[in-house]
Amino acid sequence: MKNIADGMYQILGEGAFAVLAKAQALEREGKKILHFEIGQPDFPTPQHVKEAGKAAIDENFTGYVAADGILELKAAIQDEIEVTRGYRPSTNQILILPGAKPGIYFTMIGTTNPGEEIIYPDPGFPTYESVTKYIGATPVPIPLKEENEFRLNPEDIAQKITPKTKLIILNSPQNPTGSVMTKEELLKIAELSEENNCFVLADEIYSKMLYDEEFYSMTVRDEAKERSILLDGFSKSYSMTGWRLGYLVGPKMLIEKLGILLINSISCTTSFVQRAGIAALKGNQDDLFNMMKAFRKRRDAIVKGLNEIPNISCLTPQGAFYAFPNIIKTGMTSQEAADHLLHNAGVACLPGTAFGSCGEGYLRFSYATSVETINHAIERIKESFQ
Ligand SMILES: Cc1ncc(COP(=O)(O)O)c(C=O)c1O
Repeated sequence: MKNIADGMYQILGEGAFAVLAKAQALEREGKKILHFEIGQPDFPTPQHVKEAGKAAIDENFTGYVAADGILELKAAIQDEIEVTRGYRPSTNQILILPGAKPGIYFTMIGTTNPGEEIIYPDPGFPTYESVTKYIGATPVPIPLKEENEFRLNPEDIAQKITPKTKLIILNSPQNPTGSVMTKEELLKIAELSEENNCFVLADEIYSKMLYDEEFYSMTVRDEAKERSILLDGFSKSYSMTGWRLGYLVGPKMLIEKLGILLINSISCTTSFVQRAGIAALKGNQDDLFNMMKAFRKRRDAIVKGLNEIPNISCLTPQGAFYAFPNIIKTGMTSQEAADHLLHNAGVACLPGTAFGSCGEGYLRFSYATSVETINHAIERIKESFQ
């Protein structure tokens, strides 16, 4: 066979899916595995959202729709951004996508040429590094430090920014650490992006998943008109991972071009799923409220439990549903510790290195599971180290 395209050798898989496959292989052998690897809420999609999707299918709303998204959903997103971010984008600043992830990919290829630099957090969502390499851009990972509670430090960005920097990617609340950046830090990065004339992608997929702090979007500064690009979606807040629905809000000219890219690649986002999205944003928010109440209990249980295990320490995450314990004192690498827990404790979690080399010394637990399962896992982990 002829060689495939060079970029294909640069894209990486995602650790969560690899560990899930290993865990499922053990389950087929009859082992009981407790799952902490996949980043998806264990709650069903809210009933009224499911009903809206079903009704749209029954009404035969099943054909192609406008490539950039149906107007009714765009209107709901305008209201949503006005209430949650403090500004009202125009409809031609909004692009509806099948999930948030394509928004990362589209923004990266839509803003950055080969040889230009992309700044992103390490550890961070694996797509940032993978797509940077795929498009031939230069990765500039910024280490997130535990002593800074895993928040991206604007000073570190200032040191790494160059005339070639084209895009800065932020993610708050953050995957995999659960950190939440302060308003001051976010504003400092907005200033840096203005001084250095680069784009900023604010990946805000966990914007509704904060425990104590108020959510702040740095995109309010230019109202996503000049250089900031907001990414959000329905997967996490509304337990809609499999529906595939997300959106970008950004500068008109970029959004228009990305819409054309979308026509050429996807055609449009599934029509009836968009109707379900309207119900999610406009309908009753009790399910989200109750889910976050449950996540808070789980967070407290897992952080307490992990801190009781000798040689493991864990900060309290401020957002999302991930715990990121330090395992350096166990003497194992992240990969060794994750393998040890899978085989000797029957607990599936991810090595911190699945999120970049600065994740060495850490594990990621997605606590999208019951408090009972969390407590059971903690007991098994304790025993496995005895
Ligand atoms: C930081 C971050 N961005 C984007 C996504 C992708 O979301 P979606 O499932 O809507 O594509 C995820 C999912 O895990 C994520 O953690």
